[in-house]
Amino acid sequence: MTTGNRFLMCPPDHYDVDYVINPWMEGNIHKLSRERAAEQWKTLHQVIRSGGSVDLLPPHEGVPDMVFTANAGLVLGRTVVLSRFYHEERQREEPHFKKWFEENGFTVHELPADVPFEGAGDALFDRAQPLLWAGYGFRTELDAHSYIAEWLSVEVVSLHLVDERFYHLDTCFCPLEDGYVLYFPPAFDRYSNHLIESRLPEERRIAVDEVDALAFACNAVNIGRKVIMNRASDSLKARLGAKGFAVFESPLSEFMKAGGAAKCLTLRLNEDIRREQAPTPPAVETRVIRLQGHLLDSGLIGSVLDAIIDGGGSFQVMQFQLGEQRQSLSIAEIKVIAQSGEVMEKLLSQLLRLGAQLQGEKESEAQLAEVTKDGVAPDDFYVTTIFPTEVCIGSEWIRLDNQRMDAAVVVRAAEASSAAQVTATCCLLRDLRVGDKVVVGVEGIRNVRKAKSYDSPTQRAVQEFTFMGSGVSSERRVELLVEQIAWDLRQIRDRGGKAIVTAGPVVIHTGGGEHLSKLIRDGYVQALLGGNAIAVHDIEQALMGTSLGVDLQRGVPVPGGHRHHLKVINLIRKHGSIAQAVDAGVVTKGIFYECVKHEVPFSLAGSIRDDGPLPDTEMDLLKAQAAYASLIQDADMILLLSSMLHSIGVANMTPAGVKLVCVDINPAVVTKLIDRGSLHSTGIVTDVGLFLSLLVQQLDRLTKPPKAA
Ligand SMILES: NC(=O)c1ccc[n+]([C@@H]2O[C@H](COP(=O)([O-])OP(=O)(O)OC[C@H]3O[C@@H](n4cnc5c(N)ncnc54)[C@H](O)[C@@H]3O)[C@@H](O)[C@H]2O)c1
Repeated sequence: MTTGNRFLMCPPDHYDVDYVINPWMEGNIHKLSRERAAEQWKTLHQVIRSGGSVDLLPPHEGVPDMVFTANAGLVLGRTVVLSRFYHEERQREEPHFKKWFEENGFTVHELPADVPFEGAGDALFDRAQPLLWAGYGFRTELDAHSYIAEWLSVEVVSLHLVDERFYHLDTCFCPLEDGYVLYFPPAFDRYSNHLIESRLPEERRIAVDEVDALAFACNAVNIGRKVIMNRASDSLKARLGAKGFAVFESPLSEFMKAGGAAKCLTLRLNEDIRREQAPTPPAVETRVIRLQGHLLDSGLIGSVLDAIIDGGGSFQVMQFQLGEQRQSLSIAEIKVIAQSGEVMEKLLSQLLRLGAQLQGEKESEAQLAEVTKDGVAPDDFYVTTIFPTEVCIGSEWIRLDNQRMDAAVVVRAAEASSAAQVTATCCLLRDLRVGDKVVVGVEGIRNVRKAKSYDSPTQRAVQEFTFMGSGVSSERRVELLVEQIAWDLRQIRDRGGKAIVTAGPVVIHTGGGEHLSKLIRDGYVQALLGGNAIAVHDIEQALMGTSLGVDLQRGVPVPGGHRHHLKVINLIRKHGSIAQAVDAGVVTKGIFYECVKHEVPFSLAGSIRDDGPLPDTEMDLLKAQAAYASLIQDADMILLLSSMLHSIGVANMTPAGVKLVCVDINPAVVTKLIDRGSLHSTGIVTDVGLFLSLLVQQLDRLTKPPKAA
């Protein structure tokens, strides 16, 4: 692909490590040998000259990295896209490079000041196909790729660099004659590796190992069949030899102290590419998002930037306004860049989940698509979160009804209203009907997450801890939390609010049944959710004093006890329901007795392991889910007590803002349940029986007047 080799080099007269802008420079400030650097550069210069001509760029004081001419710009024919350095330290080189290119008859393109691009360090022409491999992630911004594609009329394949040690593309990727590529795969993200593999057949890919990569084997200059590099292992030399390439080693240890080697020290000036194929411009997409809240305290800004990078995009923070006081909010405007519409769409839906708002020239309208098959949403339907959300319909922002996670949004004109009012409702897939208009894509959707929805890491740390089974537990801390929960329950009860309990049979096995019964009796529980087992074991305990055949007073199995729970199921089935058994005077105490007596509604959802089941257990899971959803509506607080199955089911249908208290002996269950980005979650890793007994004690303490001194 070359017509006579011509390179640009800059003598290392002023070369040194004066600052640290990459991991290689760390610890190397003024540590290099100037003499050795001069000798190494001279040797390289001679080797390059043996394969082509070298133009020399006059060195300048105060710009030590000018020796790395690969970063002067990207040359194609007589055109150059000048570098816009990311680091201020190197920006001082730009005027010198510009002057040289202009004086030597190149047409110079300059990128906007806020679009970093580091020349042929991050952009390498394939030597067989008409395409440019371009890196981004540390120095060059993805945004720059679209300018290059347009100015040079070339197809650009954008590669995402993810290892800081390989901060420029030319440190880990080197196109060779005949379409071979020498590269270090772990320096790229998964998607970029997929791009490389899809564009190059396996026999053209020469992957190097970490040892060779760290010896700068990929930072090579390829002239004909000669590959000039700092050093290569014997096995790499053999592999290159088998492809017809000869390695020429030119040691460059002094330049590696600044993070560069052979390729960095040269810029090819005779680049040309074949044009049989029309270039396809890359579909680089950009969008601006806005974030508002306690962005630093909550770690939200970090989560958002990580999500962009992990999702294969890049970003530019355009504005960051830090709240002046601890309680005031910060605002950030961030440009998100992605290499395709598809990547952008995935990124934006993730960012919306995190609370970002899309910015546009005008408020964008939500896009709607019609359901064409019952129970099936259009392909790119918007998936709801637990956070309050609005959609823009006819220039109006409408708050979603029935906010819950993992639903679609159905937009309807409310017929009842004469003013043709529009509603937007979270709707489960199975409830969608042909003709329903569902929100698709990411336009016109905003999360109206309150700033307070974010918790500081320290707040979270005190909310989640181990009480039992850990050497570092603190009884006092669990007491403090239970005190707070008791206080909340008391307030909810006194103002006529709604507290819900979801409980598993462990509540009974651990002796918590009597405490939960008392909570119901005293009016602290407005609805109870669970499965077949909690009811079976509660009634078994009420009638026989055992739970799963174990005597709860003595903690020992009773003879024939394993049959108890089946006897109980049979008895309730005989009476028709739990309520009928209570009315008949058969069940005279326990959790469900209290529910019936105090008209506290309950819902029992079936499962595959249920015995019986009890007549009250709903075995149609869709009906059971609907019953749960209706009972938790308008809840202020939900206690999720030792049932992974039912607790997760309930948490999934609960919108942000409802206080969730999760109690389980297994920290993984607690973390899963409370790690939903909401401040309103408290996780307690403890025995549920103990928790309930403490809670009842605290509530009693709150209601009893203090003793007179
Ligand atoms: N005979 C029956 O019909 C029968 C019996 C058992 C379960 N089931 C049904 O199976 C389904 C799942 O049952 P599940 O909810 O019990 O099981 P689950 O596995 O979903 O949850 C049990 C949870 O309790 C936690 N736990 C265990 N010991 C604890 C302790 N001392 N303190 C606090 N937490 C503790 C566990 O870590 C676990 O997360 C339910 O629908 C239930 O009704 C039916």
